[in-house]
Amino acid sequence: MNQFSTIREIQECLAIMAGEGRSIGFVPTMGALHQGHISLLMRSRMENDITVCSIFVNPTQFNNPADLKKYPRSLTQDAKLLMECGCDILFAPDVPEIYPEGESHEVDVDFGILDKVMEGKFRPGHFRGVAMVVNRLFTIVNPTRAYFGKKDFQQLAVILHMVNALKLPVKIIACETVREADGLAMSSRNMRLTIAERNLAPVIYQVLLKMRERSGKIPVRELKEWAIKKIHEHPGLRVEYLEICDKASLFPMGNWFQRKRSMALIAVFLGDIRLIDNIELFL
Ligand code: PAF
Repeated sequence: MNQFSTIREIQECLAIMAGEGRSIGFVPTMGALHQGHISLLMRSRMENDITVCSIFVNPTQFNNPADLKKYPRSLTQDAKLLMECGCDILFAPDVPEIYPEGESHEVDVDFGILDKVMEGKFRPGHFRGVAMVVNRLFTIVNPTRAYFGKKDFQQLAVILHMVNALKLPVKIIACETVREADGLAMSSRNMRLTIAERNLAPVIYQVLLKMRERSGKIPVRELKEWAIKKIHEHPGLRVEYLEICDKASLFPMGNWFQRKRSMALIAVFLGDIRLIDNIELFL
C-alpha cells in the first residue's frame, strides 16, 4: 500500500496507477476504522481496479471544538488494517494541505432542508463542512465510484444532492449499515462508550426494529411518542431527535400515505456520546 500526505504525491501516483482508464474506488473516512469501513473498502476493491482510502479528521464538520478534540485518532493502527485488507492507496493529509490559508472551499449548493433538519438542526454547519471536504477530496482523487455507509443516512442524502447539483463525475455507492452481533450500528464513537453504556446501546436498534413492526398500524405521531418513551425507559439513554420522514427528500411524514418511502432516523445520547441510527420502516 502507498501512503501519502500531500496532494502532489497522491496525484502523481494516481496518474501512473490509474492511467489507461482504470477505475478508482474511493472510501473517505475520518479514521478510527472498524468493520463498517472495511466493508466499504472490500466493496470498492470488488468493483474497481484501484482503491483509495482517505483518513482526515475534518475540522469544518465539527460544530463543537471539544468533540473535534476528543475524536479518536489511530493512524498507525488504521494504516496497518488498510494494508492487510488490500487498500492500494492511503491518503492521510493534514489540515493545511486540505484547507490552505487564504483558499475557500465552500460549496455553492442549496441543500434545501437536507442540511437543516435532524443532524443539521442539532449540529449547525455540519453538512456544509462534510460537503466541503467530500467535494475537495473528490477533486483530488477524481474517483470513478465513492462508497458511503447508510448509517449516516442524512450525510448520504446531502452528498447525493451535491453530486447532482455540481454534476460531479462520480457514482455514489450507498452501502448497508454494518452492525455488531447485538444490533448496534458500528461507529468510531462506540469505542468511547463505557461498559454500562455499551450494554445499553443496542436498545436503540431494538426499538427501531419494533417501530418497523408497528408502522402503518398506529398513527405516525403515536409511533414516534411510543418509541421515545420506550428508549427513555432506560435511564442513561436520552433521545435528541426521532423523525419519520421521506427517504429521498427527508421531509417529515405526518401519515402513512407514502409508507413505502418512510424511514425513521434517530440520535441518542449515552452520557456525552451521541449515536445515530436509522431504519427503513417498510421493506
Ligand atoms: O462519514 C465520515 O466519516 C465523514 O463525514 C466523511 C464522509 C469522511 C467526511 O469527513
